[in-house]
Amino acid sequence: MPEPARAAIDLDDAQARARVDPGGMMGLVVDFPQQCRQGWLIGQQLSASLRRPRQVVITGMGGSAVGGALLASLLEHRSPACFIVNRDYALPEIVGKDSLVIAVSYSGNTEETLTAFETAAEREAQIVCVTSGGRLAELAAQRQVPVISVPGGQPPRASLGYLFFPLLAIVERAGLAPDQHADFASAVRTLDGMREHLGPDAPGAENPAKQLAGRLVGRMPFVLGSTPWLGVAAYRWRTQCNENAKMLASSNLLPELDHNEICGWADQEGTASRATPVFLRSSFESDRMRARLDATIEIIGAHAQVEQVWGEGDSPLAHALSVIYFGDFVTVYLALLRGRNPMEIAAIDRLKSVLGGNA
Ligand code: F6R
Repeated sequence: MPEPARAAIDLDDAQARARVDPGGMMGLVVDFPQQCRQGWLIGQQLSASLRRPRQVVITGMGGSAVGGALLASLLEHRSPACFIVNRDYALPEIVGKDSLVIAVSYSGNTEETLTAFETAAEREAQIVCVTSGGRLAELAAQRQVPVISVPGGQPPRASLGYLFFPLLAIVERAGLAPDQHADFASAVRTLDGMREHLGPDAPGAENPAKQLAGRLVGRMPFVLGSTPWLGVAAYRWRTQCNENAKMLASSNLLPELDHNEICGWADQEGTASRATPVFLRSSFESDRMRARLDATIEIIGAHAQVEQVWGEGDSPLAHALSVIYFGDFVTVYLALLRGRNPMEIAAIDRLKSVLGGNA
């Protein structure tokens, strides 16, 4: 279907927003800082004691996998264990008694995650589940596996606060991360501040998320971030473009993209003419990465209008969550501008019903 010639709605019109978003995805995004607080408290209630593992494998799909990817990206270079994010039925062969497997499924009914859970149990790995219920909660009860129960009833992708912070509590408990409370508290304060100037009540003339969404209508966002955690944030932007705005989007990582994708931006008579590079940036980039990013932006900027979104706050955690929060607003605004209900995911629902059962 061709892109509408002009925006479907005025983003500053609350009634118009509610017409396109009757399920209230915008409200869930607005409430993200509060959800993070609840997610933190839920994680602190974990009573199980855990042995320090050699590997942490976080297994889940889609919106339930992103918290694990974020955790791994924040800890992988400063933790004694190795982190693996598993988005599949099968678990890596290495998984066994020395592994901690965290099975995350918001619904508790995702077949890939259920299969991976059973494999982890057969291999006698330590397991913790994070879910709102479903079959995963039942299987965990049968096998006496600890469960962190999160509130249900909302889309998994709008539940990152519930699905991420309990993971931090699990790895702290397993002796793999220092106390994260100070970073958590300041990250959430950063998100509180962002809500005011990015939220729906902040007029478009002063709201950078509404403005960026306006510039991305009719374009294909290529969201680009440096390893490790800005790359995860870039992937989150991409999947939120897909599910909220029903748009194709791409994401990629520096430094790798400097060895391939950078050449493709010269194709301004082809697909690149419809693509907009959105760089996710942070003052925590290393000096070398900053030099690389500046040079990359100069080269790509000769062909395309470059967008940049900078992390906020005083820690990598805050920066990662803040660019994700910015992206969540942008993708819901994009949905509204395109006249697409950001809550609806008919294609995923159809696929799950075609496969039947617990897909
Ligand atoms: C829907 C969403 C999906 C689901 C995925 C797995 O909002 O984000 O990507 O997360 O289909 O389902 P759950 O999370 O229930 O295991």
